[in-house]
Amino acid sequence: MALDNDLFLRALKRQRVERTPVWMMRQAGRYLPEYRASRAKAGDFMSLCRNPELCCEVTLQPLDRYGLDTAILFSDILTIPDAMGLGLRFVEGEGPVFDRPVRDAHAIEALGVPDPEGELRYVMDAVRTIRSALGSRLPLIGFSGSPWTLATYMVEGAGGSDFTLIKRMAYDAPEMLDSLLAKLSASVSLYLEAQVAAGADALMVFDTWGGVLAPADYMQFSLEPMSRIVQHLKRVAPDVPVILFTKNGGQHLEAMAETGCDALGVDWTIDLATARARVGDRVALQGNLDPTILLAEPARIEAAVSRVLESYGPGNGHVFNLGHGILQQTPPEHAAVMIEAVRALSPKYHNE
Ligand code: CP3
Repeated sequence: MALDNDLFLRALKRQRVERTPVWMMRQAGRYLPEYRASRAKAGDFMSLCRNPELCCEVTLQPLDRYGLDTAILFSDILTIPDAMGLGLRFVEGEGPVFDRPVRDAHAIEALGVPDPEGELRYVMDAVRTIRSALGSRLPLIGFSGSPWTLATYMVEGAGGSDFTLIKRMAYDAPEMLDSLLAKLSASVSLYLEAQVAAGADALMVFDTWGGVLAPADYMQFSLEPMSRIVQHLKRVAPDVPVILFTKNGGQHLEAMAETGCDALGVDWTIDLATARARVGDRVALQGNLDPTILLAEPARIEAAVSRVLESYGPGNGHVFNLGHGILQQTPPEHAAVMIEAVRALSPKYHNE
């Protein structure tokens, strides 16, 4: 279907755009009062994720409020480990917790590869419901966690740790971790392929914790599994753009671009000019405003947006975004200031 606004898809393919497209990681979330109301209706976060109509409702909320250039599926990266039977709970103030973490060869052996239209059908139903509600208005991003990032939660059993359990597995039993990552790579590949079949127009892989690894370990445990997923997707859905995002992965951009993905998400710890010089015309770049800037005064937000646009410089291949998810304490009108500034300031970078 031809879209009314395809700036985002064109930018990912480094094609000409009239202005820089913009969206925000975690754009549907707790900083929005209308999101908090929908979540209260659902009862809790996972019940919201399991309800396709409410997922659709919260996906559309930031689109109706702001002039964003893409929708992103409302779900979570931990749906796959949950479908593998680990027992996911979100504990207030603690984040995600698994009742049955995976700590030995026996537990890894017992894990199945979830059927996207079976245990994870509620996610595919959400994609179908959102796709149909969007019509030709905007593209829809589907997503997954990276195998390494999913494995950190599955082995540690909770977020916010120092990663001693999974790193110990990496150093002391690398073949055990490799077998877990192989199962996750297969699961993520099928999950993303099914999201495309259900209507996703672009895909993003969130590698939130790749940046905690030493460089050689990053290549083995984080990048290699992501690279297998990109290869699978390029075989089954060659026209669907794929974005890889390793938080704190600035030093690995060249290697990430080598996977054959279309775009890289970058956080604010690397300058976009430097990043662009390093990846050349191999991939588009998405980022990279520090989400904490959105807590500052509007004039400072506008100045910071201007610096990000100037840093990428003239030409195509930039998708404006935050360098990580929007913070819960962000005033919603400050996000509007950022989005308006991108619309106002970016056309001059696209006029040749
Ligand atoms: O961008 C979007 O709007 C799409 C929605 C989205 C969510 N999670 C919704 C969500 C996406 C893309 C994610 C990905 C995700 N989930 C990541 C990778 C991205 C990143 O931020 O690095 C990670 C690490 C998770 C795991 C997860 N889920 C955490 C750590 C938390 C926070 C727990 C807490 O209590 O603070 C979640 C919950 C979550 N996922 C919320 C939302 C809107 C908040 C849940 C709520 O309503 O209470």
